[in-house]
Amino acid sequence: MTLQLDSLNEAQRKAVLTTEGPLLVLAGAGSGKTRVLTHRIAHLVQDKGVSPYQILAITFTNKAAGEMRNRLGDLLERGTRGMWVCTFHAMCVRMLRMDATLLGYGNDFSIYDDDDSKRLVKAIMEELDIDPKRFPLQGIRARISAAKNELRSPQEYEEAAGANPWLKTTARVYAQLQARLKRANAMDFDDLLVCAYQLLKDNPQVLAAYQERFRYILVDEYQDTNHVQYLLVKMLGARYRNVMVVGDDDQSIYSWRGADIRNILDFEKDYDEATVVKLEQNSRSKGNILTAANAVVANNRDRKKKRLFTVQDDGDKIMVYQAPTSARRASTSPARASACIGPVAATTTSRSSIAPTRSPVCSRTCCCVRACPTVSWVARASSTVPRCAT
Ligand SMILES: Nc1ncnc2c1ncn2[C@@H]1O[C@H](COP(=O)(O)OP(=O)(O)OP(=O)(O)O)[C@@H](O)[C@H]1O
Ligand SMILES: [Mg+2]
Repeated sequence: MTLQLDSLNEAQRKAVLTTEGPLLVLAGAGSGKTRVLTHRIAHLVQDKGVSPYQILAITFTNKAAGEMRNRLGDLLERGTRGMWVCTFHAMCVRMLRMDATLLGYGNDFSIYDDDDSKRLVKAIMEELDIDPKRFPLQGIRARISAAKNELRSPQEYEEAAGANPWLKTTARVYAQLQARLKRANAMDFDDLLVCAYQLLKDNPQVLAAYQERFRYILVDEYQDTNHVQYLLVKMLGARYRNVMVVGDDDQSIYSWRGADIRNILDFEKDYDEATVVKLEQNSRSKGNILTAANAVVANNRDRKKKRLFTVQDDGDKIMVYQAPTSARRASTSPARASACIGPVAATTTSRSSIAPTRSPVCSRTCCCVRACPTVSWVARASSTVPRCAT
């Protein structure tokens, strides 16, 4: 059965029909990124005769992977059997369960979750007599995690530490941690990515087999990839270069855990033959919400220019609540939002990143953007904002 593409707009259709070569789909929130990705997979399988076995679709959370599988289940007669539709971590686990012995682990290695890993680091710090008041556990763990995601080994970390007490202390814990994990035949979440990378890098025959298998690679939420995830995609796609990445540089929210926005901004440098498609039509929100969103993200520093639009009407006007503290914001926003009659967009943007706008403004002391009968759209720091008349 041929796939029906009538439900896609023109830009979406272009992305779906561009099946060969690298493809960057740059798109705003709710513009149909996931829809395009799933339709493209369905088009490859149903219309182009590509075997599901040759498709690798990666996303970030188990929830997103589940949703993608469900959507594909609706589109594909035979579902996703044979296809890898998974998170980066799940992909790495699959690879390592086959070949971890090549790295000196057993294939039956254990996976330490966050709590396991926290307990182990705490025990190591106690053994090394490290004062947790001076060097808090979370700080040490965050530094080790960042080092892993940048592929810096304990030795490299130690060499670079110099006389810096924080770095030196982290280096001691990091070295112990890796030794203990290996002895226990265990990997933590970061190790899954690092070890899969090592496996592919050091074993050309393993890499070649995956490159040959996965002729079509698709990555959703590409703006959230960190360095090692970026390298994994690059390595796997190097043979056929059929790499499609879908993302929104304006939705990059994970820099604190290593996401590197340059991965999406530099895609065209890595693949100079890349086709670029922008999805700017939003199917989720009304005009006023989008105008406000455009005004807010226009202030982002590193971004590719795009402007979301909708064919829907303007909808209700919106207003801004600005909370005095983040805790108040967390407790107030959902209640206020659910009380709204019109469309709601709860802001996650920090106050300092919202620049003054030129529009009439309403600001109460809270931070959810909601429909308001008396004001136009806005995003602005509270100290300078006139109050709403209502
Ligand atoms: N061409 C279209 N016609 C009708 N509805 C559409 C179209 N494209 C997307 N939608 C709808 O818009 C909503 C958002 O689509 P989708 O989840 O694919 O967007 P997204 O860009 O991945 O969103 P997010 O930024 O949340 O990841 C969905 O309800 C989807 O069905
Ligand atoms: Mg999506």
